[in-house]
Amino acid sequence: MKIITKIEEVTSIISSLKSLKKTIGLTPTMGALHKGHLSLIKKSTQENDFSIVTIFVNPTQFDKKEDLDNYPTTLEEDLFLLKKTGCDLVFTPQSSEIYQNKVDSESFSFDGLEYEMEGKHRQNHFDGVGTIVKKFFEIISPTKAYFGEKDFQQLQIIRKMTHKENFDIEIIGCPIFREKDGLAMSSRNTRLTENQKKEAPLIYKALKNSVINFQTKSITEINNGIKQIFEKNDILDLEYFEIADEKTLQSITKKDNSKNYRAFIAVYAGKIRLIDNISLQ
Ligand code: PAJ
Repeated sequence: MKIITKIEEVTSIISSLKSLKKTIGLTPTMGALHKGHLSLIKKSTQENDFSIVTIFVNPTQFDKKEDLDNYPTTLEEDLFLLKKTGCDLVFTPQSSEIYQNKVDSESFSFDGLEYEMEGKHRQNHFDGVGTIVKKFFEIISPTKAYFGEKDFQQLQIIRKMTHKENFDIEIIGCPIFREKDGLAMSSRNTRLTENQKKEAPLIYKALKNSVINFQTKSITEINNGIKQIFEKNDILDLEYFEIADEKTLQSITKKDNSKNYRAFIAVYAGKIRLIDNISLQ
């Protein structure tokens, strides 16, 4: 497994792979890898001749400097885990290699997807995500790129960006990997206290509840039910719960049987923000 920090070295490897007509799988990450990340990377190694993982804590997608500064970095452990997945190359550049002296986002239009849910709560977040993923797509030009449904809005935004920018890249959405107790795996989970960890599975329980209730109850009843569940809990604070159209990500008040819906949730445990979602079909 090659570990590379310079763009030039990556592009030279990419051009020899392309001349040999090899397929390339890309999994972008910010490191602090867990089994959720590894499931994406394993899929990439199964489906491509050559698999690349990027580890880069992208400064332009953080709206709070504190979050960026507190983002866990565990490069040694990450590399150890990656070796076992069959990954061929890890690209882990410094910020200056990617952004030179201008740590700035490009402004994108994602046809409104960026104004829903996470977009309302994290300023300029998706411009930052679009900027870095576009840069990696340009450097690596993968055949397929792997993203988790854990960040379903991000996945849909990347699909949109890929289409609008005319990248010939297949975007592969991968299922959410969970702890045994149902908590969606996340690099942020390591920062939860014992007590918060004990309560956090309530998020998935609430989502599963909404799947059952979606068959028989109105959207307003479901929304109110979820609010009540979290009002009774002293450890977790509900930021939002929405049932939204999978394509437009717009929240609904009434079902239309021809469409697919998902329930989306964001919850605070102290200062730690946790997100999750589930298909309602
Ligand atoms: P990061 O949070 O490191 O996540 C990297 C990829 O792993 C994302 O596609 C994310 O959806 C996926 N992932 C995280 N937890 C998962 C889980 N429990 N199950 C399945 N997939 C999971 O998302 C980012 O980094 C960044 O925004 C990035 C796309 C790398 C751009 O900087």
